Amino acid sequence: GDVFTYDPGFTSTAACDSAITYIDGDKGELLYRGYPIEQLAEKSHFLEVCYLLLYGELPDEGQMKDFEARVTNHTMVHEQMHYFFRGFRRDSHPMATMVGVVGAMSAFYHDSTDINDPWQREVAAIRMIAKLPTIAAMAYKYSLGQPFVYPKNALDYPSNFLHMCFAVPCEDYVVNPILSKAMDRIMMLHADHEQNASTSTVRLAGSSGANPFACIAAGIACLWGPAHGGANQACLEMLREIGTVENIPDAIRRAKDKSDPFRLMGFGHRVYKNFDPRAKVMKESADEVLDLLGIHDNETLKVAKELERIALEDEYFVEKKLYPNVDFYSGIILEAMGFPTSMFTPIFAVSRTVGWISQWKEMIADPTQKIGRPRQLYIGQTRRDYTDVAKR
Ligand code: CMC
Repeated sequence: GDVFTYDPGFTSTAACDSAITYIDGDKGELLYRGYPIEQLAEKSHFLEVCYLLLYGELPDEGQMKDFEARVTNHTMVHEQMHYFFRGFRRDSHPMATMVGVVGAMSAFYHDSTDINDPWQREVAAIRMIAKLPTIAAMAYKYSLGQPFVYPKNALDYPSNFLHMCFAVPCEDYVVNPILSKAMDRIMMLHADHEQNASTSTVRLAGSSGANPFACIAAGIACLWGPAHGGANQACLEMLREIGTVENIPDAIRRAKDKSDPFRLMGFGHRVYKNFDPRAKVMKESADEVLDLLGIHDNETLKVAKELERIALEDEYFVEKKLYPNVDFYSGIILEAMGFPTSMFTPIFAVSRTVGWISQWKEMIADPTQKIGRPRQLYIGQTRRDYTDVAKR
């Protein structure tokens, strides 16, 4: 029969060519189109990173202006989608709402679902980048029982998102530039990460020719799990549960105990075996943001730092090369901004959308692209004959 390689979890299988993101796990290096994440996080901004990921080069001033105009032109969602939101229970997790709403987008935007038309693919990409913040903010507002806030296109991308989340009618809401900068940085750090589980899901869904909205919804669904994007919510909840520095040794003991399903959330990575460069930037950012906001003595940050320190000295974590990942410190920043934990993963989804859609576009434009179709090692029954129910 056929010969194939057994590789559960795809730990050693390259499933595609890609020119978008490069990771060197041993060096702790992450490059978007060749540019180091540290430089982008310091000098660039999210929408510029979107342009870079989508088109391969940094934009000049004119290109940036044009791109910004194209994105802001699409920030509103179809008015009828408001009714769609209203079908969800108030207490729905915002990720559940997002999977549903994004999955239904092809029903609202028929003019950007033909994957064979490069222009429609382009419009779908812009729509996705423009509308995901609006959809995430609407999911949040709906969960609070507050009215939806329409996008305000005079604001930059992260400020507009914060505005849609935190503004309320009859009151002025001025976006704090510290929060906006911090949100922008979080978005840049999450924008792409080569063939992670959700991106692979987007590619697999897209390989069958499914429309881009359906593919991104599949990516959001995959991201939700606690081993992936759901780790940011799980991590902050874990840090809160640990509560004080005295409880850390017990958490470490449980994480090492193989009979206990408890893992240190925000720790470990399939590819990074030295450190996660995003976590480094995020840690500095957490310090900076709390400081600028005048939040001192944040107990959760104290627990996080001490947990990191103890784990990095522990034989188990050293031996298995387990380091804090991007999700370890992001929650502390998001909490300080005023977000509930249920919004952490939706914010990850908003940020990763550009990565997903860039990878999807790259795949569709590749003439060698085939449907993704893994094989298996069959371990079930050998052939046997059907028996009548009376004889079983
Ligand atoms: N706490 C305790 N032990 C761990 C942890 C952890 N967080 N992560 C891995 N291990 C152990 C694991 O039990 C295994 O031990 P053994 O070899 O004795 O069986 C060994 O380390 C290797 O782990 P693995 O699960 O085989 O590694 P993987 O590459 O399949 O999984 C991971 C990577 C990120 C899913 C995993 O480290 C994990 O579950 N971490 C916690 C969740 C998390 O923070 N996820 C976010 C990942 S980064 C951002 C993102 O993708 O969203």
